[in-house]
Amino acid sequence: MKILVTGGAGFIGSNFIFYELKQHPEDTILCVDSLTYAGNLSTLEPVMGQENFHFVKMDIRDREGIFQLFEENHPDVVVNFAAESHVDRSIEDPQIFLETNIIGTSVLMDASRAYGVKRYHQVSTDEVYGDLPLDRPDLFFHEDTPLHTSSPYSSSKASADLLVMAYYRTYGLPVTISRCSNNYGPYQFPEKLIPLMIANALEGKPLPVYGKGENIRDWLYVEDHCKAIDLIIRKGKEGEVYNVGGHNEMQNIDIVKLICDALNKPYDLIRHVEDRKGHDQRYAIDPTKIHQELGWLPDTKFADGIKTTIAWYLEHKDWWENIISGEYQKYYEKMYGEGGIH
Ligand code: NAD
Ligand code: DAU
Repeated sequence: MKILVTGGAGFIGSNFIFYELKQHPEDTILCVDSLTYAGNLSTLEPVMGQENFHFVKMDIRDREGIFQLFEENHPDVVVNFAAESHVDRSIEDPQIFLETNIIGTSVLMDASRAYGVKRYHQVSTDEVYGDLPLDRPDLFFHEDTPLHTSSPYSSSKASADLLVMAYYRTYGLPVTISRCSNNYGPYQFPEKLIPLMIANALEGKPLPVYGKGENIRDWLYVEDHCKAIDLIIRKGKEGEVYNVGGHNEMQNIDIVKLICDALNKPYDLIRHVEDRKGHDQRYAIDPTKIHQELGWLPDTKFADGIKTTIAWYLEHKDWWENIISGEYQKYYEKMYGEGGIH
């Protein structure tokens, strides 16, 4: 099978490539990534020389280039990870989110239709469902929970999901969608909560917690997300949405404290800063469907996954120190104040 993976130089896409090449060495992976600030070619170094792995630097909005690529490679399956993925950046400047996340998706699906792709898989997010109240722990996101987005990021992802379902109904494109909760693990860009707190704590820098830190996210180890997507593209039913999550809800403040404890850093590094605009309160996935229909269950418990993740960031300082130098510094100062937080 030839799988075209977009956004494979980013966090989840790269982990998916490693997972696929390990689980299915008979398959070929063609990775397409435009290498935005979030994409890192060095991440893919371990697989770069492999015969069944190829990398192409290309923007998914480039219609002509993408069609040419399909003409030359005829992929069987497309898995679309490529996206602008950071909520705070979407609040600052939504435009690129609409372009990549919506237009880029339509370009990939047009090419998939034109070249008879057997499965187009859209990697979506639980954020399309909006949020749940903190005082209703009995509520969960189900596949039929109405889309009700909060940020420009989640709105762009929900728009893409609607377009994917429209291509299924109108053109019969064989699609599937996965909506996963918050991922953590190796190679996550240090603008996201867990790697940001690890990197700042290691450098003895303040730890910026939005508002009171009571918001809840449902954390899943990245490899378990990859396993779910692998199952969906091979066994999932066309036209179906699958929620992915491991029932691991935690308040942000508890995550930050846990990281401090693991690194032996004092809680007085924690700073409660201005809250995110429109901040979603709680995410919580009901994964019953993917469990019952495809037999998916997460393998990694949070206590183990977070240890592995912290150890990975300790062992791969070069990877993230390189990333947080240069351009990222400007973003950090813009978001968290001149010279950082005090
Ligand atoms: P990421 O920001 O780490 O990586 C995104 C990748 O896409 C980067 O390599 C970037 O260079 C590439 N890219 C961006 N714009 C592109 C374009 N126009 N053309 C080609 N490549 C482009 O993101 P991530 O956290 O790995 O998320 C991957 C996907 O999973 C996204 O679609 C996201 O919405 C979804 N998702 C993420 C999470 C999470 O917790 N991170 C959870 C659920 C779903
Ligand atoms: O739920 C899936 C989504 O998870 C994905 O679709 C997104 O691509 C991914 O970025 C993630 O979105 P979140 O907004 O939940 O993740 P983030 O790591 O940005 O923030 C997690 C929580 O931590 C959130 O409540 C905001 C808070 N936070 C975040 C940052 C960066 C802070 O308190 N301080 C921070 O500095």
